[in-house]
Amino acid sequence: MSVQTGPVQLDTADFRQDPEALYARLRRGAPVCEALFPRGFRGWLVTRYDDAKAALTDPRLSKDMSRFAELMTRHHHGSGRFTPFPEDVTAHMLNSDPPDHTRLRRLVNRAFTIRGVAKMAEGIEAITDELLDGLAGRTEVDLLDAFAFPLPITVISDLLGVPHADREDFRAWTSAVISKGAPGAAAAAARAMGEYLGGLIEAKRAHPTDDLLSALVEAHDDGDRLSAGELRSMAFLLLIAGHETTVNLIGNGVLALLRNPDQLAALRADRSLLPGAVEEFLRYEGPVNVATFRYTTEPVELGGVRIPEGEFVMVALASANRDDAHVADAGTLDITRPQTPHLAFGHGIHYCVGAPLARLEATTAIGGLLDRFPDLALAAEPEELLWRPSTLVRGLETLPVRLA
Ligand code: HEM
Repeated sequence: MSVQTGPVQLDTADFRQDPEALYARLRRGAPVCEALFPRGFRGWLVTRYDDAKAALTDPRLSKDMSRFAELMTRHHHGSGRFTPFPEDVTAHMLNSDPPDHTRLRRLVNRAFTIRGVAKMAEGIEAITDELLDGLAGRTEVDLLDAFAFPLPITVISDLLGVPHADREDFRAWTSAVISKGAPGAAAAAARAMGEYLGGLIEAKRAHPTDDLLSALVEAHDDGDRLSAGELRSMAFLLLIAGHETTVNLIGNGVLALLRNPDQLAALRADRSLLPGAVEEFLRYEGPVNVATFRYTTEPVELGGVRIPEGEFVMVALASANRDDAHVADAGTLDITRPQTPHLAFGHGIHYCVGAPLARLEATTAIGGLLDRFPDLALAAEPEELLWRPSTLVRGLETLPVRLA
């Protein structure tokens, strides 16, 4: 029996600060329910692990962009008009179904395999060391600003071939693209980023270098594997995904450790626990709260609820990972848990292509940080910490820590 009447509101400070409070209620009483999302559109929210997994592999749930604007307009209930993102940055794999999805993903798959990213290990260690050197002598910092943000930005920019001088712009753009800001602000930032990428692609065409973007330009120029819009969109997706997620795996992971001193002590005592700890951070407080949009191409029954055709279905990954029916004592951080599957990287054909890179970055970053700062501590009361206004990303505004 459902305890929920009317759509749940996700645009509230309570939800932003503590989504799990709502999720726990929904998993019990209304595991598939209607919800109003922050940008003012209505859809269905899926909160249990088994339903989430089923939704992520159901081919009747589409991610094809072609109907997105029409459906957004149809299900938009907020004030003001919905401003869609420009098409030249949205024609990417995360907005497509097979066969386009298969073709697009194949173009970058190899760069991100475990073997592919192993080549980046040295570079990631060097960037981590350099950032940690920069913290020497400081007593209190915002760990996100000083460490967790610059690391993945530098790594993904190096991989793609974005010049160092342009990286600060990216931080403002990508943050605006994923957060709920003023109406149209996200679309404007997406447009600015698209224009910048158009220029960068021309520069790579004129002077190819040894980076992923130059390789993609070549794939476009050599045949029909990638259109000009798809090329720009691919760069856009990789940069956003590479910037906005790993930072929060580092941030949320460090916060989880600082709030659970026994776990921190266990990890300091036995560093072989680190890879398992990173998996537990992903499960316990992963960087993606609700997965990106999907919509029904025909009526679909999910968790006993019949969802009509042409409606948005949003999968709450963070909720699925805290489902007691899937993992015992799900609300407890336990870095020594036997391997537990989680949905932090999604599931099915859109499973995160960057997962091996994200894991490598997070283990290098968190390991390096613990080595350098034996007295690392939180410099704020946990209740004072503010979370970012986005249903997509689960991450803090700032993470004040004492280094010494
Ligand atoms: C897809 C999470 C890091 C690139 C996804 C999805 C999730 C996710 C949940 C699926 C979304 C959905 O199905 O709606 C994460 C997390 C990360 C992370 C938690 C860090 C801890 C990265 C990095 C990159 C990346 C570093 C690489 C540059 C992508 C791409 C997709 C994707 C390209 C789309 C895959 C497809 O559509 O087939 N990620 N991601 N991610 N991620 Fe990540």
